[in-house]
Amino acid sequence: MKIAVLVSGGGTNLQALLDAKAAGKLPEAEFVCVISNRKDAYALERAKAAGIDAQVLSPRRFASREAYDTALRDLLIAKGAELVVLAGFLVVLGREVLHAYRNRILNIHPSLIPSFCGDGCYGLKVHEMALARGVKVTGATVHFVDEGTDTGPILLQKAVAVREDDTPESLQLRVMQEAEWQILPKAVDLFTRGKVHFTNGIAWTSAEDSEQEE
Ligand code: GRF
Repeated sequence: MKIAVLVSGGGTNLQALLDAKAAGKLPEAEFVCVISNRKDAYALERAKAAGIDAQVLSPRRFASREAYDTALRDLLIAKGAELVVLAGFLVVLGREVLHAYRNRILNIHPSLIPSFCGDGCYGLKVHEMALARGVKVTGATVHFVDEGTDTGPILLQKAVAVREDDTPESLQLRVMQEAEWQILPKAVDLFTRGKVHFTNGIAWTSAEDSEQEE
Protein backbone atom coordinates (compact mmCIF):
# COMPACT_ATOMS: atom_id res chain seq x y z
CA MET A 1 0.00 0.00 0.00
CA LYS A 2 1.35 3.39 -1.01
CA ILE A 3 1.86 5.83 1.87
CA ALA A 4 2.56 9.57 2.07
CA VAL A 5 3.96 10.94 5.32
CA LEU A 6 3.30 14.59 6.21
CA VAL A 7 5.80 16.31 8.52
CA SER A 8 6.75 19.70 9.93
CA GLY A 9 9.72 19.07 12.18
CA GLY A 10 12.45 16.72 13.29
CA GLY A 11 10.80 13.60 11.99
CA THR A 12 11.63 11.06 14.68
CA ASN A 13 8.25 9.41 14.10
CA LEU A 14 9.00 9.30 10.37
CA GLN A 15 12.33 7.69 11.28
CA ALA A 16 10.54 5.06 13.36
CA LEU A 17 8.49 4.20 10.27
CA LEU A 18 11.55 4.06 8.01
CA ASP A 19 13.44 1.91 10.53
CA ALA A 20 10.49 -0.47 10.84
CA LYS A 21 10.35 -0.73 7.04
CA ALA A 22 14.11 -1.41 6.83
CA ALA A 23 13.76 -4.08 9.53
CA GLY A 24 11.11 -5.90 7.49
CA LYS A 25 8.31 -5.07 9.94
CA LEU A 26 6.09 -3.26 7.41
CA PRO A 27 5.80 -5.82 4.59
CA GLU A 28 2.82 -4.14 2.91
CA ALA A 29 3.93 -0.52 3.30
CA GLU A 30 5.56 1.47 0.50
CA PHE A 31 6.57 5.04 1.40
CA VAL A 32 6.09 7.03 -1.80
CA CYS A 33 6.69 10.57 -0.54
CA VAL A 34 7.31 12.79 2.46
CA ILE A 35 5.69 16.24 2.31
CA SER A 36 6.64 19.09 4.63
CA ASN A 37 5.05 22.52 5.02
CA ARG A 38 8.48 23.85 6.10
CA LYS A 39 11.56 23.69 3.92
CA ASP A 40 13.87 23.51 6.95
CA ALA A 41 12.22 20.44 8.48
CA TYR A 42 14.93 17.88 9.30
CA ALA A 43 12.42 15.18 8.44
CA LEU A 44 13.11 16.00 4.76
CA GLU A 45 16.75 14.94 5.22
CA ARG A 46 15.63 11.68 6.78
CA ALA A 47 13.39 11.02 3.77
CA LYS A 48 16.18 11.77 1.29
CA ALA A 49 18.60 9.55 3.20
CA ALA A 50 16.12 6.70 2.81
CA GLY A 51 15.73 7.41 -0.92
CA ILE A 52 12.17 8.69 -0.60
CA ASP A 53 10.78 11.59 -2.62
CA ALA A 54 10.80 14.66 -0.32
CA GLN A 55 8.69 17.69 -1.19
CA VAL A 56 7.87 21.05 0.37
CA LEU A 57 4.36 22.42 0.07
CA SER A 58 3.91 25.57 2.14
CA PRO A 59 0.52 27.24 2.73
CA ARG A 60 2.32 30.58 2.41
CA ARG A 61 2.77 30.03 -1.30
CA PHE A 62 -0.98 29.78 -1.89
CA ALA A 63 -3.58 32.54 -2.06
CA SER A 64 -5.95 30.75 0.32
CA ARG A 65 -6.13 27.73 2.58
CA GLU A 66 -8.61 26.18 0.16
CA ALA A 67 -6.07 26.49 -2.66
CA TYR A 68 -3.39 24.91 -0.45
CA ASP A 69 -5.67 22.07 0.55
CA THR A 70 -6.60 21.38 -3.06
CA ALA A 71 -2.93 21.35 -4.10
CA LEU A 72 -2.08 18.99 -1.24
CA ARG A 73 -4.90 16.64 -2.22
CA ASP A 74 -3.80 16.71 -5.86
CA LEU A 75 -0.19 15.94 -4.90
CA LEU A 76 -1.26 13.02 -2.69
CA ILE A 77 -3.40 11.61 -5.50
CA ALA A 78 -0.64 12.18 -8.09
CA LYS A 79 1.75 10.17 -5.89
CA GLY A 80 -0.80 7.38 -5.69
CA ALA A 81 -1.04 7.61 -1.89
CA GLU A 82 -3.63 5.28 -0.39
CA LEU A 83 -2.80 6.11 3.23
CA VAL A 84 -1.65 9.46 4.66
CA VAL A 85 0.31 9.51 7.91
CA LEU A 86 0.62 12.77 9.85
CA ALA A 87 3.90 12.46 11.74
CA GLY A 88 4.19 15.79 13.54
CA PHE A 89 2.40 17.76 10.79
CA LEU A 90 1.34 21.10 12.23
CA VAL A 91 -1.02 22.26 9.48
CA VAL A 92 -4.74 21.63 9.98
CA LEU A 93 -6.07 19.65 7.02
CA GLY A 94 -8.96 21.12 5.06
CA ARG A 95 -12.07 19.61 3.54
CA GLU A 96 -10.60 18.51 0.20
CA VAL A 97 -7.98 16.24 1.73
CA LEU A 98 -10.35 14.97 4.43
CA HIS A 99 -13.00 14.05 1.85
CA ALA A 100 -10.54 12.35 -0.48
CA TYR A 101 -8.98 10.33 2.38
CA ARG A 102 -11.85 9.58 4.77
CA ASN A 103 -10.64 6.95 7.30
CA ARG A 104 -7.29 6.88 5.49
CA ILE A 105 -5.40 9.54 7.44
CA LEU A 106 -3.56 8.57 10.63
CA ASN A 107 -2.20 10.99 13.23
CA ILE A 108 0.02 10.42 16.25
CA HIS A 109 -0.79 12.49 19.34
CA PRO A 110 1.40 12.48 22.48
CA SER A 111 -1.30 11.82 25.10
CA LEU A 112 -4.02 9.31 25.88
CA ILE A 113 -6.93 10.93 24.02
CA PRO A 114 -9.35 12.36 25.22
CA SER A 115 -6.92 13.76 27.80
CA PHE A 116 -4.71 16.70 26.84
CA CYS A 117 -5.82 17.11 23.25
CA GLY A 118 -7.79 19.48 21.06
CA ASP A 119 -7.14 22.97 19.70
CA GLY A 120 -3.78 24.43 20.71
CA CYS A 121 -2.74 21.25 22.51
CA TYR A 122 0.43 20.06 20.80
CA GLY A 123 4.15 19.59 21.36
CA LEU A 124 5.62 20.29 24.79
CA LYS A 125 2.36 21.90 25.97
CA VAL A 126 0.71 18.47 26.12
CA HIS A 127 3.29 17.24 28.63
CA GLU A 128 3.24 20.49 30.62
CA MET A 129 -0.52 20.07 31.02
CA ALA A 130 -0.20 16.42 32.05
CA LEU A 131 2.37 17.30 34.73
CA ALA A 132 0.33 20.29 35.95
CA ARG A 133 -2.74 18.06 36.34
CA GLY A 134 -0.72 15.45 38.19
CA VAL A 135 -1.75 12.44 36.13
CA LYS A 136 0.21 9.29 36.95
CA VAL A 137 -0.22 7.74 33.52
CA THR A 138 0.03 9.41 30.12
CA GLY A 139 0.99 8.00 26.74
CA ALA A 140 0.30 8.30 23.03
CA THR A 141 -2.59 7.72 20.66
CA VAL A 142 -2.78 6.87 16.96
CA HIS A 143 -6.12 7.97 15.57
CA PHE A 144 -7.82 8.62 12.27
CA VAL A 145 -8.26 12.26 11.32
CA ASP A 146 -11.69 13.82 10.88
CA GLU A 147 -12.94 17.43 10.79
CA GLY A 148 -12.30 18.01 14.50
CA THR A 149 -8.99 18.35 16.36
CA ASP A 150 -7.97 14.93 17.75
CA THR A 151 -11.60 13.72 17.57
CA GLY A 152 -11.36 10.94 14.95
CA PRO A 153 -11.59 7.19 15.63
CA ILE A 154 -8.86 5.91 17.96
CA LEU A 155 -6.79 3.03 16.56
CA LEU A 156 -4.00 2.32 19.09
CA GLN A 157 -2.95 3.71 22.47
CA LYS A 158 -0.01 2.97 24.73
CA ALA A 159 0.42 4.12 28.31
CA VAL A 160 3.58 5.57 29.88
CA ALA A 161 4.02 6.07 33.64
CA VAL A 162 4.72 9.60 34.90
CA ARG A 163 7.62 9.94 37.36
CA GLU A 164 7.78 12.38 40.25
CA ASP A 165 10.95 13.97 38.86
CA ASP A 166 9.69 14.29 35.27
CA THR A 167 10.06 17.57 33.43
CA PRO A 168 7.97 18.29 30.31
CA GLU A 169 11.09 17.48 28.28
CA SER A 170 11.87 14.17 30.00
CA LEU A 171 8.24 13.09 29.76
CA GLN A 172 8.07 14.08 26.08
CA LEU A 173 11.13 11.97 25.31
CA ARG A 174 9.87 8.92 27.22
CA VAL A 175 6.42 9.14 25.58
CA MET A 176 8.14 9.18 22.20
CA GLN A 177 10.52 6.31 22.96
CA GLU A 178 8.08 4.05 24.82
CA ALA A 179 4.85 4.84 23.00
CA GLU A 180 4.91 6.95 19.80
CA TRP A 181 7.77 5.15 18.05
CA GLN A 182 6.14 1.81 18.91
CA ILE A 183 2.50 2.33 18.06
CA LEU A 184 2.83 4.43 14.89
CA PRO A 185 4.66 1.69 12.92
CA LYS A 186 2.31 -0.89 14.44
CA ALA A 187 -0.74 1.10 13.31
CA VAL A 188 0.66 1.42 9.79
CA ASP A 189 1.36 -2.31 9.70
CA LEU A 190 -2.16 -3.17 10.83
CA PHE A 191 -3.77 -0.79 8.35
CA THR A 192 -1.65 -1.83 5.39
CA ARG A 193 -2.36 -5.52 6.09
CA GLY A 194 -6.11 -4.86 6.05
CA LYS A 195 -6.49 -5.55 9.78
CA VAL A 196 -8.48 -2.39 10.61
CA HIS A 197 -12.26 -2.16 10.38
CA PHE A 198 -14.90 0.29 11.54
CA THR A 199 -18.10 -0.40 13.47
CA ASN A 200 -20.40 2.57 14.12
CA GLY A 201 -17.54 5.01 13.67
CA ILE A 202 -15.24 3.11 16.06
CA ALA A 203 -11.99 1.62 14.70
CA TRP A 204 -11.10 -1.97 15.64
CA THR A 205 -8.22 -4.27 14.81
CA SER A 206 -8.59 -7.98 14.19
CA ALA A 207 -8.45 -9.99 17.43
CA GLU A 208 -5.02 -11.57 16.94
CA ASP A 209 -3.49 -8.14 16.33
CA SER A 210 -5.24 -6.11 19.00
CA GLU A 211 -2.65 -6.60 21.75
CA GLN A 212 -1.19 -3.18 22.54
CA GLU A 213 1.96 -4.21 24.39
CA GLU A 214 4.92 -5.61 22.51
C1 GRF B 1 5.42 14.15 18.19
O1 GRF B 1 5.43 14.38 19.57
C2 GRF B 1 4.02 13.80 17.75
O2 GRF B 1 3.30 13.12 18.72
C3 GRF B 1 3.43 15.14 17.51
O3 GRF B 1 4.46 15.93 16.98
C4 GRF B 1 5.72 15.40 17.40
C5 GRF B 1 6.53 15.16 16.17
O4 GRF B 1 7.87 14.82 16.44
N1 GRF B 1 2.24 15.04 16.72
P1 GRF B 1 8.79 14.27 15.27
O5 GRF B 1 8.83 15.34 14.18
O6 GRF B 1 8.20 12.99 14.75
O7 GRF B 1 10.14 14.07 15.88
